[in-house]
Amino acid sequence: MKKLHIGILTSGGDAPGMNAAIRAIVLAAEHHKLHVTGFLRGYNGLVNDEGIKLTTEHVSDIIHRGGTIIKSARCTDMRTEQGLQQAATTLLKRKIDALIVIGGDGSFTGAIALNKHWHGQIIGIPGTIDNDLDQTDLTIGFSTAVETAIQAIDKIRDTADAFERIFAVEIMGRHSGHLAFNVGIASAAQKILSFENFPSKSEQSQESAISALAQDITNNQATHHGSYIIVLAENLIHGGATKLAEKLSSFDSIDCTPCVLGHIQRGGSPVAKDRTLATKMGVAAINYALSGVTLKMTAEQNNRVVAVPLSEVIKHQKRVSQHLIDAQENLTEIMNDVESR
Ligand code: F6P
Repeated sequence: MKKLHIGILTSGGDAPGMNAAIRAIVLAAEHHKLHVTGFLRGYNGLVNDEGIKLTTEHVSDIIHRGGTIIKSARCTDMRTEQGLQQAATTLLKRKIDALIVIGGDGSFTGAIALNKHWHGQIIGIPGTIDNDLDQTDLTIGFSTAVETAIQAIDKIRDTADAFERIFAVEIMGRHSGHLAFNVGIASAAQKILSFENFPSKSEQSQESAISALAQDITNNQATHHGSYIIVLAENLIHGGATKLAEKLSSFDSIDCTPCVLGHIQRGGSPVAKDRTLATKMGVAAINYALSGVTLKMTAEQNNRVVAVPLSEVIKHQKRVSQHLIDAQENLTEIMNDVESR
């Protein structure tokens, strides 16, 4: 069997568990006596020809670490023909047979574009806290980010309860509400505002949705003097949680405090689920490389790792399950009934 030379890069927003994936790739490659080069700072490592040899020593103590030992970045050069050509030249010069890209939809769009200039194998591994990649039940980093946000909101709830306060907590997630819904439900938020259940287009419809929210808060306060937590998806409302809190506070008897969780959701030690998922996918990526697979992503479907075409993955954003959205609606109604008794 040909001894492949494997290239790896981590690209876009880093996600807890990326290191666990790198570890699994390096160990599986070592098992098959393959060489591994880690390119630094995402696709910049290809464009600028910056790569390091990765061996078992580099990965022996990284499974529990957030971030990525080979760094990550968003690389605008990959949107230009010149950048793509430079990346291809590096791969040819270094005699890379298979490139493993750990990242999200932007990273895979870059991988497909690169394939027009370089005809080695390309394998994707889904690494993003947003969990918005189609064809896979989970992406590496999502479970940890959910856990981190829940822990933060549990703490906010303590002080919110003590002061009977209203909080608007802003959660990451770019354009989709997987984080907002999972975090909101698991932290028993009174309201979840996300792209899937809140008008995101017109300012006027947002204003009337905010008025309805203010009415709900007022009703809630009348029946139940307690805290009220709103989980808000980032980018949904111009000005985010700060703006929402300001608008709500302009209603009589409402005083809303904003809290932006921000990048703490991207850091921290990966939870067991992310470490296991990353390990399974890293090993699968090496097996796919050995069997000649290209332009596919390792995906988890019904607890099994399978290979799905990258072109399918980037076609649509994965939608938040309607069951989750309905569950939140139903629970809110039941809570309101219980509290008004
Ligand atoms: O895609 C991951 C993510 O963390 C999103 O949730 C967020 O919108 C974005 O990256 C933030 O990117 P940056 O760190 O470049 O500001």
